[in-house]
Amino acid sequence: MGNVDLKGKDFLTLKDFSKEEILYLINLAKDLKIKKKNGVMVDKYKGQNIALIFEKTSTRTRCSFEVAAHDLGIGTTYLAPSSSQIGKKESIADTARVLAGMFEGIEYRGFGQEIVEELAKYSKVPVWNGLTNEYHPTQMIADMLTIKEKFGKLEGLKLVYMGDARYNMGNSLMIACSKLGLDFVACTNKNYFPNEELVNECREYCKESNGSVLLTEDVAEATKDADIIYTDVWVSMGEPDEVWKERITYLKPYQVNEKCFENAHEDAIFMHCLPAYHDLKTEVGKDIYEKFGLTEMEVTDEVFESERSVVFEEAENRMHSIKAIIAATLTPSAE
Ligand code: CP
Ligand code: NVA
Repeated sequence: MGNVDLKGKDFLTLKDFSKEEILYLINLAKDLKIKKKNGVMVDKYKGQNIALIFEKTSTRTRCSFEVAAHDLGIGTTYLAPSSSQIGKKESIADTARVLAGMFEGIEYRGFGQEIVEELAKYSKVPVWNGLTNEYHPTQMIADMLTIKEKFGKLEGLKLVYMGDARYNMGNSLMIACSKLGLDFVACTNKNYFPNEELVNECREYCKESNGSVLLTEDVAEATKDADIIYTDVWVSMGEPDEVWKERITYLKPYQVNEKCFENAHEDAIFMHCLPAYHDLKTEVGKDIYEKFGLTEMEVTDEVFESERSVVFEEAENRMHSIKAIIAATLTPSAE
């Protein structure tokens, strides 16, 4: 771990990071979490500022960046969806060069991965991916930290992802598991398997890590001896409402319910990046109920509220891990 140096590096996808670097970030997040709980200040970045660009909405990621930055002594500027010139009146390349002149780091949440890659290409300061259609890498550090806290290890654990496995969460979990030596299973209808090129890339990572990647439509096979059962919304931000019907048809058999855990390890946990549709307390949840008669979607309320569910610890870990990512990639201010 001693040789890891991420100063000045972008954080765009875990594909760009070695196992050692990912473990370094997880351990740093744990260390910063302990410090925070003990009231130990880590504001070594005083006088620095970061820009937070959100072209999609957020609760956890935005709050994590703001709180983490504040704890590190860093100021933040939030650019809300549609409140800046980005993409409409000003190119990504120009935006990158303008912001890099004012800020020490830039967070970007938006649509295609190529946009955040372009931002990073033209920015002389680190760019952090706060979620794109393809990847959600900051979530991975929090998830792996949560798993490590629960099981005391990562290698050899079986993580089953159920639902839309061809989007940001499925892709990112497959990469994280393959790099870190977990057994990853995408359990879903074959239309929602991750793309073949990425699967092959991950299988290459597995050769080094001893992890594995399995794609299956069979719930009983997938959940057998699982340590972690993970899901995410069936329709992601930016997708049109019209896709709900098709998603419900194909993904309903892959809803995470108590039956999935009958086959799993006794101490198996439930994870979800959140937000989740597990009841009728949301506008979208109510709308789907009226249109399709479903009272819960990707996870039942029973599982979500059960002892197995670690979703709120996972959400808290977003802050500690984003703090680690900022701290690792920026240089502390001079004393
Ligand atoms: N998990 C996650 O990224 O949550 P937000 O969309 O609220 O940031
Ligand atoms: N797949 C979801 C993840 C939200 C954190 C989305 O992109 O909306």
